Amino acid sequence: MEKPQKGKYEFGPITEKDVVVSIKQPGNAETEVLIVEEQEIRLSFQRLGIIPDPRILIPSLKEMECYDDDIFICAYPKCGTHWVWEMCQMIIKGKAEYHSKAKESCMMEFHLPEEYKDIPRPRIFNTHFTPVCLPKQAVEKKSKFILLHRNPKDIVTSLYHHMVKTKFNMDSTTTWSQFLQYILHNDREVSSNWFFYNKRWTEFTSSNDLDVLVMNYEDLKIDTVSCLSKLANFIGYPRDEKMLKEIKEKCSLNKMKDAEKERDSGTTAVNSEQVSDLYRKGVVGDWKNQFTVAENEQFDAHLKENMNGENLNFKYEI
Ligand code: A3P
Repeated sequence: MEKPQKGKYEFGPITEKDVVVSIKQPGNAETEVLIVEEQEIRLSFQRLGIIPDPRILIPSLKEMECYDDDIFICAYPKCGTHWVWEMCQMIIKGKAEYHSKAKESCMMEFHLPEEYKDIPRPRIFNTHFTPVCLPKQAVEKKSKFILLHRNPKDIVTSLYHHMVKTKFNMDSTTTWSQFLQYILHNDREVSSNWFFYNKRWTEFTSSNDLDVLVMNYEDLKIDTVSCLSKLANFIGYPRDEKMLKEIKEKCSLNKMKDAEKERDSGTTAVNSEQVSDLYRKGVVGDWKNQFTVAENEQFDAHLKENMNGENLNFKYEI
């Protein structure tokens, strides 16, 4: 049975122009998804009205007004977007103080462009969308892009624990092994497919003259202060070492996790408690506690076969 709509966003009727397909979720249950511009959204979730209708959202995002000081943090889920978004906010503020709202308040999937009208500049957006959904003006006006990567074994591990906790996209009985096989067999041309996501970003960055900083989660863990310094210089707010160390301290996983519970999530899609749950271990190499030897070999072979010669030089341990 369809769940009643509880959010503030209208979800219009499905028409013959829409692409709706039935896909297998991890663990084999079938679900219907709506596909708009390479993004795949579960209809049962969409119908709750807690996020905007992508058929309205994506075209309006593409036409959104942007500025050269806008910052877009773009990453596949679980690469550390919460961490980097908060650090950027503190750098700009010039104080190791948490922003009043969670990073979800500026997550492009969760808001219509008009909801950003009161955000002071420089605005720091974040998204898991592939570049086709981004504002055209972000490229034209040379906004700043921060592309965040993480080794895919830790991404999948983190994603699994996220899904178990939230029961999002799978039922609670789904095992790790079912989840991993689902990931390995997702060859759809949509943003949830990590290979497709990276391919689209590589195409986008190589065919546009962008102001872009590429970072990865592992380097942030190895030397947070030097990454913070790069970040600060890139966004045009260089800060001294004392302040960077204060930001590092304030942005430790446990402190951020606690702070999340105290502040407005900034969206109807998730509440503060659910945002806080996204902070888990925050380490490099937790995949070793998850993958069997055979699964690791299968994953390595899959990576080799699907990376299309791309070498993102991931660090699997530090
Ligand atoms: P784990 O599940 O491996 O712990 P995102 O912010 O993109 O949703 O990524 C979530 C991942 O980043 C989770 O990874 C989370 O614990 C980790 N993370 C979040 N904040 C962090 C922080 N301040 N320091 C280190 N890792 C952090």
